[in-house]
Amino acid sequence: MSRQTLIVGNWKMHKTIAEARDFVLALLARDDCFVPEVRVAICPPFTALEAVSELLGDQSKIALGAQTMHWATSGPYTGAVSAPMLVEVGCTYVLLGHSERRSYNAETDEIVNREVKTALEHDLIPIVAVGETLAEHKAGQAKERVVAQTLAAFDGVAGEQIARCILAYEPIWAIGSGLTEDPASANDVMGTMRGCREALHDVPILYGGSVKPANARALIAQENIDGALVGGASLEAASFAEIAINARRAVQSR
Ligand code: 13P
Repeated sequence: MSRQTLIVGNWKMHKTIAEARDFVLALLARDDCFVPEVRVAICPPFTALEAVSELLGDQSKIALGAQTMHWATSGPYTGAVSAPMLVEVGCTYVLLGHSERRSYNAETDEIVNREVKTALEHDLIPIVAVGETLAEHKAGQAKERVVAQTLAAFDGVAGEQIARCILAYEPIWAIGSGLTEDPASANDVMGTMRGCREALHDVPILYGGSVKPANARALIAQENIDGALVGGASLEAASFAEIAINARRAVQSR
């Protein structure tokens, strides 16, 4: 089975509702970046989800995702947003376990695991992010770290449920730094991630960390790199569209 290629924009804490609308209109106008081989999704901040969802309507070019969610479906969790709320607003995907959530919001492997289970119960597709720190990278512990995070995220999750998920390898030192993991090395780590549970065999694994139009093609040409999770370069429709176009080139030249 060939795996779906995906380009996912994680806007993080960027864009007002008006700016989000402008982006969506600009991206929808870029017909050259939408092809069946490459799925395009954006993850705006919570405040812009409804406006973006309304603009997207029932078109199938751009899918909608959220940047996080709580593992509980409701309750006394001030500031949190639940899976049913994301489903209601039109999300297909939810990012879980992003390193910024892990470090600034104390999300542990156990919390990520609970979030994954809740997302799946509500038919959201989790995009589970894992990655090693610079110190771990330098110590040659990247594979060990990401395998541990991957196994923990899917602990107690049945194989057929895992098969519905997406994984993302984001070396923490590559995020927002302009440094990108060498494509062959990233592919090697991602191949090891894929091998840690049988059910991950056909699961798309995205690379994230300073993905730009200039490096997207070489990364996605790798056997185990099924797309990109893009931060900074997803904030402009032009650069995000270029990444999707380069993903298509990579897929077509495989
Ligand atoms: P950058 O593309 O800005 O490095 O961010 C990557 C990221 O964290 C996407 O989730």
